[in-house]
Amino acid sequence: MPVISVPQAFNEEELYVDLRAVIGRALFLKCEGFNFAGSIKLKAAAEMVAAAEREGALTRRSILVESSSGNLGVALSMIAASKGYRFLCVTDARCNLATRLMMEALGSQVHMVSGTESNGGFLGARLDYVRDLCATDDRCVWLSQYTNPANWRAHYRTTAPAIARFFPDLDVLFVGAGTTGTLMGCARYFRRWDRPVRIVAVDSAGSVSFGGAPGRRMIPGLGMSVRPPLLDDAYVDDVLVVEEADTIRACRRLAARGFLFGGSTGTVVSGAAGWLERYGHPGMTAVAIAPDLGERYLDTVYQSTWVRDLYGDDLDGDAREPVLPTREAGRGA
Ligand SMILES: Cc1ncc(COP(=O)(O)O)c(C=O)c1O
Repeated sequence: MPVISVPQAFNEEELYVDLRAVIGRALFLKCEGFNFAGSIKLKAAAEMVAAAEREGALTRRSILVESSSGNLGVALSMIAASKGYRFLCVTDARCNLATRLMMEALGSQVHMVSGTESNGGFLGARLDYVRDLCATDDRCVWLSQYTNPANWRAHYRTTAPAIARFFPDLDVLFVGAGTTGTLMGCARYFRRWDRPVRIVAVDSAGSVSFGGAPGRRMIPGLGMSVRPPLLDDAYVDDVLVVEEADTIRACRRLAARGFLFGGSTGTVVSGAAGWLERYGHPGMTAVAIAPDLGERYLDTVYQSTWVRDLYGDDLDGDAREPVLPTREAGRGA
């Protein structure tokens, strides 16, 4: 029975869902949403704050600032509250209401920016805003999740070894790509492991991370409007690109079995199901990472009018059908 005195001290690292009944293939889903920040971003946040403290960049008078569409913001809010730092999160219209309210409840300031294609989309606008803050107030300390190596190191130290301990026969690992911190930390760890593991990145259609054309993306977590600075393609064996409509179908099918996961989990599961349908074989050990849970998406992914307005009516299939993407969108990296 763990007893803790700071919220970041607890993280469930050993929970997997067997998805055989949902996708018709053996796939173990590593659940990263069971901690007080509610997502995998707890690890990156804790590692980046610890690195800044070690380097002497963070002091009592510091104001932590970061650009986040939500989960990192919540994790940093929690750690900042626990350690007595001020935190200002720069976010945009895709940030879920519940996420913003959570950050404010934890004592953080939240600034919303609007983005246009001419300034690199929401991300470009958020980064410009953070740079301006840092230029005008020397108390600001920007952790910069998009470039900070502590982001991927968190997963190299924790997520990947935890998977390796549980699955010594691992063959393939599916990882969603946002900043690519999770992807690169796991990929670097398994490159040095004693057994070859296929690393499959899963991205959202409309993201340019792996060279695709930019397009509308409404579900936060995965995808970037610029190439992720942390990404090194040499560590990635395959890239799968999933349409948001398929993300929503997968989320609904998981929910129909009682598992309410976040949007990016639907993306990863949809991509993995398609890949396993094509390349899987009996006895293959496959793991995918679920970054968070579904409560933060009740007014988007799980709300019929939001879904209908953005993606049309044709998502209303049998939610207990196996999860498969509607079109093949993968490519070898
Ligand atoms: C819900 C969710 N899924 C996936 C990711 C992507 O993780 P990473 O930034 O490590 O690529 C994030 C990152 O914010 C997230 O919040």
